[in-house]
Amino acid sequence: MKIAVIGCGYLGAVHAAAMASLGFDTVGVDVDASKVERLGRGEPPFFEPGLPELLRAGVGAGRLRFTTDVAEAAGSDVVFIAVGTPQLPGSDAADLAFVDAAIASLEPHLGAGMLVVGKSTVPVGTAARLAEVVRPTGARLAWNPEFLREGFAVQDTLAPDRLVYGVEPGDDAAVERLDAVYASVLERGTERLVLDFATAELVKVSANAFLATKISFINAMAELAETVGADVTLLADAIGLDARIGRRFLNAGLGFGGGCLPKDIRAFQARASELGHADTLAFLGEVDRINLRRRDRMAALIERELDAVGGDRVAMLGLAFKPDSDDVRDSPALDVCRHLQRAGRSVVGFDPQARETAGRVLPSLEIAGSVADAVRGADVLALGTEWRDFRELDPVEVAQWTQARVVVDGRNTLDAARWSAAGFRVVGLGKPEVQPA
Ligand code: UDX
Repeated sequence: MKIAVIGCGYLGAVHAAAMASLGFDTVGVDVDASKVERLGRGEPPFFEPGLPELLRAGVGAGRLRFTTDVAEAAGSDVVFIAVGTPQLPGSDAADLAFVDAAIASLEPHLGAGMLVVGKSTVPVGTAARLAEVVRPTGARLAWNPEFLREGFAVQDTLAPDRLVYGVEPGDDAAVERLDAVYASVLERGTERLVLDFATAELVKVSANAFLATKISFINAMAELAETVGADVTLLADAIGLDARIGRRFLNAGLGFGGGCLPKDIRAFQARASELGHADTLAFLGEVDRINLRRRDRMAALIERELDAVGGDRVAMLGLAFKPDSDDVRDSPALDVCRHLQRAGRSVVGFDPQARETAGRVLPSLEIAGSVADAVRGADVLALGTEWRDFRELDPVEVAQWTQARVVVDGRNTLDAARWSAAGFRVVGLGKPEVQPA
């Protein structure tokens, strides 16, 4: 079977490498020549654990190549559409320009027997509209949303929680073709749901909306906890023991960021409004506002601590929107740095992987090459991303590098007892402060 993947960003590059690892002859197509060139050498243009090995294996075996020429998708059995659907500038809606351009450029190369499979996250109704464009070529369309998390992208692609196929009524051939693509995934006993287009599209956006709501729910509890002196982590542990609620995605702190959850909940609301359901998803506006308020709160806490010691310089540990990623798109940690800079504070940041990406997005930010360099001369320490590297820091050693004796833990992730024993005051989000021992 021959496979093409249009769009070699995060989703597409991982998907193409995964398809090649399953033994398919795979070509990745992207308009960005430098990205194509790097991927062709087996080098991902972003940090993702496990991806370099997968890319190199595919390229080395001659099963995986990359090109800027969409004509090379001609004759493929399956063409995946994995281009981005970013937030439209000045609007909450998703920008479908890349999806439409991908389909338009592909159209002359489509023919009977080919299956076009959308993976991008799109507003409900998009698949039905695109099926009309694809049908006259003799090819068929299916929608197969992805649920991959950055940092776990390879694992989530090859061993997902479930596979969702959105197909036109009675399109058994599309289902069979997708089953052939995912044969080794299905052999693991993975649940596969065959749905209509609209349901498949909604599964993706509603899953993300639910996850975002879960995070903002616990962050709302954190706001209250701060006022009444409660501890949001213990609260999450307690409610999470109810199997109907579950403990996962109840970590209070700086909230969600990244290239998906924030823009997806906004695009979902915008689409609901177009469909006459503005009220139905109005609560997602509140989910968004709760999430953004956490960043203000963290910046305010850091400023309070700076003023308390008469200092001005903060070291932000963690700049990526989440650990195991160099992605700083809508990064809460970087946003807090921005807030502090605007308030005239001196900010130095460090991240195990996101130093370059953060420097590009916020060139005014001073970026250190190590934790020791970042904390030296800082008055207050702050933690913005829950990298394991930071959890594993020895606070006794950190205390030797810096005069700061307070750490604002924006992810409630440090072992407060250890930091307190090393002489630090630990300020969390939504929990009582821990004084130095
Ligand atoms: C998300 C979805 O999980 C994935 O299924 C979808 O395909 C794309 O969007 P991702 O953006 O990689 O994946 O990150 P995720 O692990 O979901 O985390 C999102 C954000 O929420 C991060 O900023 C993370 O730090 C934050 N988060 C997560 C919390 O603040 N608390 C939690 O309990 C969990």
